[in-house]
Amino acid sequence: MNVEPVFRPLETEDTEHLWEAAAKDADWPVRPRTRGAFFRLVEGLQSASTLGEACLEAVEVDGRLAGFCVLQPVPMSHLGPLAEEGTVVEGGTYLTPWARGRGLNAQIKERLLAAAWVRFAAAWCVFLVPCDNRRALAAFARLPWPHQVESARDNGRFAALLRRREWEEGHPLAAVAFSRDSLSQAAGYALFRRPKSRSSGPAKW
Ligand SMILES: CC(C)(COP(=O)(O)OP(=O)(O)OC[C@H]1O[C@@H](n2cnc3c(N)ncnc32)[C@H](O)[C@@H]1OP(=O)(O)O)[C@@H](O)C(=O)NCCC(=O)NCCS
Repeated sequence: MNVEPVFRPLETEDTEHLWEAAAKDADWPVRPRTRGAFFRLVEGLQSASTLGEACLEAVEVDGRLAGFCVLQPVPMSHLGPLAEEGTVVEGGTYLTPWARGRGLNAQIKERLLAAAWVRFAAAWCVFLVPCDNRRALAAFARLPWPHQVESARDNGRFAALLRRREWEEGHPLAAVAFSRDSLSQAAGYALFRRPKSRSSGPAKW
């Protein structure tokens, strides 16, 4: 059953709820493993969001916190030769277990991709997913938009970023990457030109 999400700024109270959900969740994708580090990370993202340097939003369904999504530019020095192709933004999504399998993922990814092209004029939007997170990889495979999946072993476009992040995180990652150019040739690109009006997020998205 598909549900209609509402996007809104992430509040400190949400951070507390998300941290509680994380404690019970093997698929928690966020690096900080302590409460203090997680709160500091969110505070940094909230400030960056206010300054227009990142996007961080809570996802709500029927007035209940369902998760959050985030988008931020990758520092050029982390990209290797890929930096020559333009801005690369990294996206992330977390849905609490009750909110999974309800069609929210595609709606969130659509919003993040719109922000990547419209807000950041990015050439690429990439998601770094642990290779053993089969559900997240299967969820990307179901999305209707063209994308590529790369591992560090492929020694491809995202090799420098993957190697750096694998070193930081200590496990193999897959780069799931959407390019503005290939999406502009795909039918349905119009979807990404403007964020959806149903969103309650900041107008600058
Ligand atoms: C990743 C995430 C956003 C995807 O949203 P979702 O609502 O769960 O995704 P969907 O239900 O649309 O798709 C998941 C698919 O994986 C399948 N799946 C579920 N568990 C699976 C498993 N263990 N192995 C393989 N596939 C699995 C589902 O059946 C579904 O495919 P189907 O509908 O074709 O059957 C959500 O699961 C989540 O927030 N997970 C925790 C955080 C995370 O992993 N974030 C991504 C890291 S960047």
